Amino acid sequence: MATSRKALITGGTRGIGQAIAELLRADGHSVKSPDRTELDLALPGSVQAYLQNSTWQPDILINNAGLNKISSLESLPLEDWQAVLNVNLTAPFLLIQAMAGAMKHRRWGRIVNISSCYSIVSRAGRLAYSASKSGLNGLTRTAALELAPHNVLVNAICPGFVETDMTRQNNDAAQIEALRAQVPLGRLAQPDEIAAFVAFLVSDRNTYITGQVIPIDGGFLCQ
Ligand SMILES: NC(=O)c1ccc[n+]([C@@H]2O[C@H](COP(=O)([O-])OP(=O)(O)OC[C@H]3O[C@@H](n4cnc5c(N)ncnc54)[C@H](OP(=O)(O)O)[C@@H]3O)[C@@H](O)[C@H]2O)c1
Repeated sequence: MATSRKALITGGTRGIGQAIAELLRADGHSVKSPDRTELDLALPGSVQAYLQNSTWQPDILINNAGLNKISSLESLPLEDWQAVLNVNLTAPFLLIQAMAGAMKHRRWGRIVNISSCYSIVSRAGRLAYSASKSGLNGLTRTAALELAPHNVLVNAICPGFVETDMTRQNNDAAQIEALRAQVPLGRLAQPDEIAAFVAFLVSDRNTYITGQVIPIDGGFLCQ
């Protein structure tokens, strides 16, 4: 029987985050996933207020919530750039910074940041999204180095194309078919396929993987 841990997952209302929350609960963990009325990740002040009011200290932190605003470089409004950076990069930084201390003290912690294949390659219109996710990869590596002496393991995963609201909002049916055609496995991922690997990374079975940025993309990035 695996040890029951406390896990905090952002963006657990839908998609990949919901699948991760369900799987970790099924694995016997105690999972909290605040919705945006409790914790609005686009507002650093909301993140700081949530942290000040919470005494719950998770063993597992999964920075899953994400935001994409599609726009060309020349027409991207500063407020959209800022919102994407806040949700995808600043909020993970603030949560890791606040929660690492208790993990270090217990000499056990697992942090997974949900990045994207668009942190490694990109497409027109993904300027803020790619910049934020590339930043998240850098945050992952440095945090992993600083926390490794305390047995706190920090990794990022890079999903390819997953069947969620985010994909449906940013792509019409023809565009989704074009994405599918770029995937060697010939299909988009389901959220539970991403969740399965996250559950491994945050488990006691993962004892030696840290500081890695790992694609889960059906072979997309091999091409
Ligand atoms: N789908 C893909 O193909 C794909 C590919 C690569 C990477 N990813 C990454 O995987 C992660 C999950 O994506 P998904 O496809 O599951 O996304 P999704 O279906 O759009 O869900 C996004 C989640 O993030 C939450 N969220 C967004 N902005 C928030 C804010 N300001 N405060 C609090 N919560 C907020 C949403 O909450 P609400 O329900 O309140 O809106 C929702 O729970 C993201 O980091 C995304 O970048 C996705």
